[in-house]
Amino acid sequence: MARQPPSIPETNLSEGDIAHAQETAWIEVIRKMEEVYSDLIQYEIELEEKNTALEEAQRFITSVLSSVSDILVVCDSKGRIQQVNLAFLHLTDMAETDLIGMPLDHMLADDVQQLSHWLEAGHGGDREVRFVHGGQGATDPVALTCATLLDHRGLPAGTVLTGRPVGELRRAYEALKQAQAQLVQQEKMASLGRLIAGVAHELNNPISFIVGNIHVLTKYRERLEAYLGAIHQGVSETERDVLRRSLRIDALMGDLPALIAGTQEGAQRVADIVKSLKRLSFSQGAAAEAVNLADIAENAVHWVIKGRNLPGLPHMDLPATLLAAGQTGQLHQVVVNLVENALDAVDGDARAVSLRGRVEGNRVTLDVCDQGPGIAPENLGKVFEPFFTTKPVGQGTGLGLWISYGIVRDHGGELIALNRPEGGACLRLTLPAA
Ligand SMILES: Nc1ncnc2c1ncn2[C@@H]1O[C@H](COP(=O)(O)OP(=O)(O)OP(=O)(O)O)[C@@H](O)[C@H]1O
Ligand SMILES: [Mg+2]
Repeated sequence: MARQPPSIPETNLSEGDIAHAQETAWIEVIRKMEEVYSDLIQYEIELEEKNTALEEAQRFITSVLSSVSDILVVCDSKGRIQQVNLAFLHLTDMAETDLIGMPLDHMLADDVQQLSHWLEAGHGGDREVRFVHGGQGATDPVALTCATLLDHRGLPAGTVLTGRPVGELRRAYEALKQAQAQLVQQEKMASLGRLIAGVAHELNNPISFIVGNIHVLTKYRERLEAYLGAIHQGVSETERDVLRRSLRIDALMGDLPALIAGTQEGAQRVADIVKSLKRLSFSQGAAAEAVNLADIAENAVHWVIKGRNLPGLPHMDLPATLLAAGQTGQLHQVVVNLVENALDAVDGDARAVSLRGRVEGNRVTLDVCDQGPGIAPENLGKVFEPFFTTKPVGQGTGLGLWISYGIVRDHGGELIALNRPEGGACLRLTLPAA
């Protein structure tokens, strides 16, 4: 169809004028068309750029979703699967195309309460489920967490489920538990080592006493043998008196009672030490019994002071009996740790350490305090963490308080760290009274 030139209003114009007006109108039309065309091209370029950015973002999100090891499932408000990640496809051995649009409940392996009810009820928290695997059979249990999916207006549009096979979590937990048990064992060996050093020191004294006395007694026996031998052979009275003087028999007889008593005392001391050692038990799981925390504290202080060979004693403010429910060996270990820390804080000056015990209702409390620098406020919450130590390498493992905390907690008690207003730290041990 031929194009009609734009109409020109009927007026008294010459033919030349009309032709000119028509030409101008055509030029205007062509200019407009060119403008529109160039705009179109511009729009197309912008659109392509936006498209590329969108594809880039899509690829990025997809690669993130496929590289996370946790499973991820997005459901619409009716509980139908909208999107899943690679981890879910691997776990269930299903194809993405088969899953999209399927109600998530159909993927449950067990006859449990349907997920849709759980989702509808808007439950937070975890839930353990097993999914169908490859259309039959079941996957390992998965710990699922559910969150609400919001649309662009911020309104609920579905749910996002994330989860991780429980087996994996359990394995990690088991490994952690094993590592912890190993550490506890190592610390026990270390405290056993410290204890043995203390024991060796304690036993050394009376044993060297006994050995010295026996040596003297052997010499005395030789002299007595010689003297008695001569008497039995029937020597004269004069010869006997000479022998009695030269062998210093009277002095020997005078020494004997003290030597025997001293040896007896040394042997008794060894027996006492062995007896107190027998009270220490490093065994787990022994039943709690009524123990005198005051005795345990005295004993622990004694061990630490002797073990370190320190002069002076801590100030002890303990009632005669402070009956707690617990295990002697383990509580001994706790008090030893607290006293060692207190002594470290005061450079081994035992007189700057004090222990105070008391009964409060159905609890007994033991404070181990010192006049040291105290615990920096930012460290108050950390001292019970394993490996937390401010001591130089080789002087502290940072396990003492951690182990102690565990023991006290197992006893149903409490161990807290405080700074005293007058300066210095105070570790407060509270236990159920027996
Ligand atoms: N009485 C105290 N005064 C000041 N700081 C303390 C006191 N007791 C504990 N701490 C702080 O708590 C940290 C942890 O104590 P913990 O007994 O657990 O480990 P450690 O004494 O450093 O080493 P380990 O006991 O294993 O030999 C110490 O390094 C110290 O910084
Ligand atoms: Mg310590």
